[in-house]
Amino acid sequence: MKRKHFIRIWDLSKDEVLKLINRALELKRTKKWERKFIGKILGLIFEKPSTRTRISFESAIIKWGGSSIFLSSKDLQLSRGEPIKDTSRVLARYIDILVLRTYHQETIEEFARYSSIPVINGLSDKFHPCQVLSDIMTVVEKGKDLYKAKIVWIGDGNNVAQSWIEASALLGFKFTLACPKGFEPEKDLLDIAKKQYNAQIEIVHDPKEAIKEAEVINTDVWVSMGQEEETQKRLSVFKKFQVNKELLQLASPSAIVLHCLPAHREEEITEEVLEGSQSVVWDQAENKMWLHMALIEFLLENN
Ligand code: CP
Ligand code: NVA
Repeated sequence: MKRKHFIRIWDLSKDEVLKLINRALELKRTKKWERKFIGKILGLIFEKPSTRTRISFESAIIKWGGSSIFLSSKDLQLSRGEPIKDTSRVLARYIDILVLRTYHQETIEEFARYSSIPVINGLSDKFHPCQVLSDIMTVVEKGKDLYKAKIVWIGDGNNVAQSWIEASALLGFKFTLACPKGFEPEKDLLDIAKKQYNAQIEIVHDPKEAIKEAEVINTDVWVSMGQEEETQKRLSVFKKFQVNKELLQLASPSAIVLHCLPAHREEEITEEVLEGSQSVVWDQAENKMWLHMALIEFLLENN
């Protein structure tokens, strides 16, 4: 059997994604599981900072009875030029499953190519697939029907947005993304989504138009990790894409607001909206842990 990694949403089938989300919801609801991964070790190698992804994965493996080893990539011989393909094969002799957070998607892909253990993308420049699985879990948990609710993204066509594009294409729900011109998701990705998956994805440049009747509103930072040099330009280009009270009033009154966090208050989202009654960000952050429990179980049992 081919080694199963989780590097992008399209690595899974629609059925697998739906099962993972249901399993995560079940774990959260019942709080019942066996400590069936005693002795299993989850490694985490991060090139960038993390609060949620790191801690939720570490908590998840500990709940299963296993342990974790976290390393910044600076602490590895990788930082002194040891090839990824060597590091990957050596790590697989010590640990059972690996989460990577890297600047470049290609780094994770190369790790996976040489790895005899499952490799998980914990965020790259191109995708944040675990995030979007737990975001969809939150949408379902809040009682929204993926296939009826209008789901919109307001802001940058970034890594998280691109995983939403893949989810929309794979699961077959409609997705509207409003971003400034020049900040769209990658054209190749949109082309594949449309041609191979028949995806119903709308890219627009007017946030007011996009948010009309929305039931699910997503946003994220305007400056992702690794884009710090573009900060000044981005802060000015994205101004009218702020999720604030005025914009939110154009959405459905029962709309929920998601943000993967960390949030930059008064940039992409106002304090008022983030802390307001429609925000579900704290449940969304918690759900990462339940989803990661389900994902670890799925990958350890299917490899
Ligand atoms: N949402 C998310 O991935 O947060 P961290 O950067 O804290 O892991
Ligand atoms: N788009 C953001 C997400 C952080 C979790 C970034 O890549 O920095």
